[in-house]
Amino acid sequence: MSQTYQHWKIETDPTGIAWLHLDKADSNTNVLSADILNEFSAVLDELEKNVPRAVVILSNKENGFIAGADVKEFTSFESEDVALQAIRRAHTIFNRLEALSCPTIALIHGFCLGGGMELALACRYRIADNDPKTKLGLPEVRLGIHPGFGGTLRAIRLVGVLSAMDMMLTGRNLSARAAQKIGLVNYAVPKRHLLNAARGIVKQPPHTMVLPWWKRLASHKRVRPLLAKIFYKKVAAKAPRSHYPAPYSLIDLWVQHYDNPTQMLDYEAQSVAHLISGRTAQNLIRVFLLQEQLKGLGKADDFQATHVHVIGAGVMGGDIAAWCALRGFRVTLQDQKHEALANVIKRAYKLYQKRLKHRLAITDVMDRLIPDPKGNGLSRADVIIEAIFEDVEVKRNLFKSIEPQVKPTALLATNTSSIPLDVISNVMQQPSRLVGLHFFNPVAMMPLVEIVQSPTTDSTVATAAAAFTRKIDRLPLPVTSTPGFLVNRILMPYLMEAVVLAQEGIPLKVIDDAATDFGMPMGPIELADTVGLDICLHVAKNLAQHMSIEVPEQLQKMVDKGQLGKKSGQGFYRFKDGKPQKEMPPKSYTPPVDIQDRLILRLLNEAVACLRDGVVTSEDLADGGIIFGTGFAPFRGGPFHYIHYRGAAQLLKMLEHLQHRYGPRFTADAGWQQLDNNTTA
Ligand code: NAI
Repeated sequence: MSQTYQHWKIETDPTGIAWLHLDKADSNTNVLSADILNEFSAVLDELEKNVPRAVVILSNKENGFIAGADVKEFTSFESEDVALQAIRRAHTIFNRLEALSCPTIALIHGFCLGGGMELALACRYRIADNDPKTKLGLPEVRLGIHPGFGGTLRAIRLVGVLSAMDMMLTGRNLSARAAQKIGLVNYAVPKRHLLNAARGIVKQPPHTMVLPWWKRLASHKRVRPLLAKIFYKKVAAKAPRSHYPAPYSLIDLWVQHYDNPTQMLDYEAQSVAHLISGRTAQNLIRVFLLQEQLKGLGKADDFQATHVHVIGAGVMGGDIAAWCALRGFRVTLQDQKHEALANVIKRAYKLYQKRLKHRLAITDVMDRLIPDPKGNGLSRADVIIEAIFEDVEVKRNLFKSIEPQVKPTALLATNTSSIPLDVISNVMQQPSRLVGLHFFNPVAMMPLVEIVQSPTTDSTVATAAAAFTRKIDRLPLPVTSTPGFLVNRILMPYLMEAVVLAQEGIPLKVIDDAATDFGMPMGPIELADTVGLDICLHVAKNLAQHMSIEVPEQLQKMVDKGQLGKKSGQGFYRFKDGKPQKEMPPKSYTPPVDIQDRLILRLLNEAVACLRDGVVTSEDLADGGIIFGTGFAPFRGGPFHYIHYRGAAQLLKMLEHLQHRYGPRFTADAGWQQLDNNTTA
């Protein structure tokens, strides 16, 4: 017997088990949108009327069970009250699922995240496919909220507060095995055994899991306030409540209401409705949607590739090669120096150990990363990435010599950070073949890749480059081949202002704190030290030829002395075990009030200039690029979003004031006038 809805289908087998399939119409991923939940409510009407022997919930989508709630709907609530009603509706539905009198089983493969995980938690049992693609988690904090469909209570009750908070406060995903270990799922089994495992549970329902006493003790009302202190401290080390309130609200919720489940669910709904209507959540949801937009710029079908050849096994080439192998490509890596190749293999092994953990998986990737001093891979590769010294003549000679050797369909890319593409490509027979793939250091941590196009770059080449970027799980951002592209161009004035402040005698920690207080992940002085002062100097000097930035004398002096930052152990800071030693300013010290404005306004002014120059085509792309390329305070939604929030007119006034005080480097770019008209938020 079977009954079909738009998104759900109930199939009852001869043994009386109702197999409830979710298959969201017109989508390749299951997300819990309002219409899916409404239909689920109708499904429950049916199941409550004719209670089957058991209900097994499973997904017909290849990529997974349920990826979460429908994030786009989060942006459309007109008020906190409307949000609260929507959340309460979901609560009622999940409570009904939990209250069904027959065994309920979630059969999980692939993504089981957020609202999807909460649905699974409302079932009596959970079985997960133990494939590495299975990912279970409650990542709501990343969107500025916490679980809101009953997940806070149910997760803590099921696995204990320590494991549950670890998942919910960090937002990290678990593999099926890890989930089984903490008790989040009953069984982790190979895909081919999933259905039988469900049948087995129905035949002989296992006892529902009971937490050991010590895990229950952790949520005792006397213990909660003590443990909460540790949670608050951990969270505070990452982000303050004023910027990211959600994790704090989650801890509050548990401390205050855990003894009364009905009350806890009620306050959970109120807390999420409040958070979701706030600025942080709305901006983090914006960042999520910007990420989706960037992902959409590279379509997998636009380029097929299996073999990548990287030339230059230095800092960048080595890491790019290691990353491509990790993402499944066969990679040949060419360098004139054997020891450079050996270093990369060592570095790659460390990366794989961290990411893959299992020996066989590590060996597998290592086998794909092939040192190739003679460049034998060149003629067979589908993608060639050049990452040799930043020297115009050397790069020109290289492309001239390799072009006749590569496959006619191969993608030819340079990782140059400052040389205009045309200057390199005009020695080639087909200059339209050259595109920039500008990665950031460290490659494994930085999600953005700028897809650099010169006027001669063929648009199909740029499309292929963006598609390849997605295949290695990075975010493509199309930019023009203008000095500094987008990310380095907006970063440099900000970093140089920090150096000027240091030259003025402002304590380094005060400068860095001004930026981290704004929400930057790292202060500019520490960032300059981390990137390397020689590299900063090189980029700054290059940009100074094209735009009005002055290179502070101190930077040149430090590089001359060999003080290069983290890599030499001494830059602005002294480094010990890779950590900067930050001195506290004297207690009597009062910093000037405009440090943060000076730093941030130089960055914003340059972002406006980039948009006016057409380096990127829209404010949204600029915001996405700057957030994923620099870590710009995500909870502020990006520089342009911030400009509109503050009001362009007000920021212009501040720029005028700074220009008056500190000189022409604060002259407002002409692009502000165009922005002023469409100040929205
Ligand atoms: P690096 O100096 O660490 O490495 C360059 C490597 O290329 C060396 O191992 C050298 O032996 C090799 N090499 C030079 N000429 C060669 C040739 N003709 N054939 C084969 N190998 C050759 O340089 P790094 O920092 O990795 O930079 C490489 C490129 O990436 C440059 O264009 C740079 O502008 C760009 N870039 C650098 C970033 C950084 O943070 N270091 C960030 C983004 C781009």
